[in-house]
Amino acid sequence: MTTSPTTWPGEGARPTYALRLSDDEQARYRMMADRARAEEGELWAAAGLADGARVADVGCGPGAMLVALADVVGPTGHVVGIDGDPEAVVAARSALAAARAADPRIATGEVHEGRADSTGLPPASVDTAVLRHVLAHNGGAEQRIVDHLAALVRPGGHVYLLDVDLTTASSTGAGPDVEELANRYRRWHQNRGNDPRVGRRLPDLARTAGMTVTRHRCWTLRMGFGRGMRGPAWAARDELVRAGMATAADLARWDAAFTALDTGRVAFTLAVVAVVGRRPALPEESS
Ligand SMILES: C[S@@+](CC[C@H](N)C(=O)[O-])C[C@H]1O[C@@H](n2cnc3c(N)ncnc32)[C@H](O)[C@@H]1O
Repeated sequence: MTTSPTTWPGEGARPTYALRLSDDEQARYRMMADRARAEEGELWAAAGLADGARVADVGCGPGAMLVALADVVGPTGHVVGIDGDPEAVVAARSALAAARAADPRIATGEVHEGRADSTGLPPASVDTAVLRHVLAHNGGAEQRIVDHLAALVRPGGHVYLLDVDLTTASSTGAGPDVEELANRYRRWHQNRGNDPRVGRRLPDLARTAGMTVTRHRCWTLRMGFGRGMRGPAWAARDELVRAGMATAADLARWDAAFTALDTGRVAFTLAVVAVVGRRPALPEESS
């Protein structure tokens, strides 16, 4: 994954991203996508994620969620993934192609490089726009991004927002070194101006973008990490070093701590918030 400095909210610069995309990290994305599908079914349906829908997944990452969405909207639907990280774009394209080769009944789709606040997609061109775990990386640009998504969906269409409250993150069985890494990662986000509680602001962001909030759910995500999975804080380790918040010795110590972990005994919990926003229909449609 990229190792250049992150520049998400800045104007003009091509966005880059802090988290490396190792095989283990991609496996974690697939696990999260499977869980989301199982746990958020009612919310997805309320957001119009059903047969035949045209869907944009903005900040699609390596495409695990894009594949799940392509499956949900089926052969008459269409998905488009957007990400600012060229490596994520390549990974998402290949994940979608592999999934379609295995099952041609999933939706057709495409993946493009682009910014979350200016995707390049035509206005009102999709039924549902999805934004998951993106706003936490975009301090100061949150409203601009949600405004853009509200403009991407057709009148009467939906925006699905999901993000976390990092201040609630807690773990058992991880040990002091892994805890220390998690704390540094949280501080690194804060130093960059990212809002660790952005999940709590999702309803306000949706309303300010002119949408009606039709669903608002908060829950606690509980995850055990499979062997090899080290999570986002480890994936951001190069950024911590670059920011002067970690040394090579820290990385070696955290690496050893992960290696020694009995992953079966580690559990992380984190508060997650999802909001479904509906763009007002045109007057003749709403009657
Ligand atoms: C934590 S990953 C989430 C991936 C996916 N949404 C999911 O839930 O599995 C965040 C992704 O958003 C992308 N991203 C973050 N901010 C972005 C921005 N301003 N413009 C484009 N992509 C962005 C990153 O490159 C990364 O791939």
